Amino acid sequence: MSGPYARIAGTGSYLPETVMTNHDLELLVETSDEWITQRTGIKKRHIAGPHESTSDLALAAARSALAAAGRAARELDLIVVATTTPDRVFPSTACLLQEKLDVHGCPAFDVQAVCTGFVYALGVANNFIRAGQSACALVVGAETLSRLIDWTDRSTCVLFGDGAGAVVLEAATEPGLYSTQLHADGSYANLLTVPYGVSQGYDRVRQGDAFIEMRGNEVFRVAVNTLGRIVDETLEHNGMSKEDVDWLVPHQANHRIIEATARRLGLPMERVVVTVDEHANTSAASIPLALDVAVRDGRIRRGELLLMEAFGGGFTWGSALVRY
Ligand code: ACO
Repeated sequence: MSGPYARIAGTGSYLPETVMTNHDLELLVETSDEWITQRTGIKKRHIAGPHESTSDLALAAARSALAAAGRAARELDLIVVATTTPDRVFPSTACLLQEKLDVHGCPAFDVQAVCTGFVYALGVANNFIRAGQSACALVVGAETLSRLIDWTDRSTCVLFGDGAGAVVLEAATEPGLYSTQLHADGSYANLLTVPYGVSQGYDRVRQGDAFIEMRGNEVFRVAVNTLGRIVDETLEHNGMSKEDVDWLVPHQANHRIIEATARRLGLPMERVVVTVDEHANTSAASIPLALDVAVRDGRIRRGELLLMEAFGGGFTWGSALVRY
């Protein structure tokens, strides 16, 4: 493998101001802090304000990542936004973000792979940089999942939150990003879905009646098996072993899924970045949010090897192996 490679020049994130705790949810549906904590590890989640959209969250995270990278927005030559909850049907959230950043001309587009979106977006941006088509790319995961939740359905409303995370990738002579492994299997579409959209059931969307539906048990089982396999696939692909990994930065859906993946890697939980307790499941935003938290609090240091992995609707799943 020869250069150019992509390296993470800076990370950033943003969480909306309003916090909703498990106790707040007890007032909405028949649930308890104890049930939610035991089954998921979640204690609270952030909820976007009525006038805050996905591109607003993305903008705050992007500005923070650009500052950390010591880069100006005008240096960007690619913008990729991973989101399941775009501001509009079109233009893409990436184009709206581009305008808010006041940069013009570079390619900007969204990637939709639900909770695996950030890893997919990272893979796309990596390929642009590896091909010499980009030297400074912004990759964002941003979500306002609270807009897709039926707040009377206790089986889903306790699980999700809003937020955004971003990285600035730049071309470098050494990795950086070793590889992304990306997968999907649409035969599982109905286990985790919002079953309405533009060309199917648009009336339901217009009535505000299109919400996340999930068969939690089945999702859980497939997620644990799949994530275990992708850990092995990633290490094997790069000729590395479990001992080489310094940090697991997983998608934050459920504490028990994260623990199962860490066990498979033989990593103690002290080497796993966990934010699901504070953020809940923010879908495509969860990995870059967790990454930024651990970079800023000094846990993740330059030169360390990070394994990111995610699983989500589609089903989609994937991983990224990164020397930070
Ligand atoms: N509070 C109290 N009780 C509840 C709640 C709640 N919020 N939600 C469900 N229950 C009840 C159910 O009604 C059921 O009651 P019953 O036995 O009387 O029928 C009981 O709790 C057990 O329900 P299960 O669904 O079997 O509970 P389980 O142990 O599977 O936990 C959970 C549910 C937490 C959703 C789990 O299945 C899970 O985490 N699955 C993975 C979901 C996930 O991570 N999805 C996202 C991944 S992909 C992505 O990120 C988009």
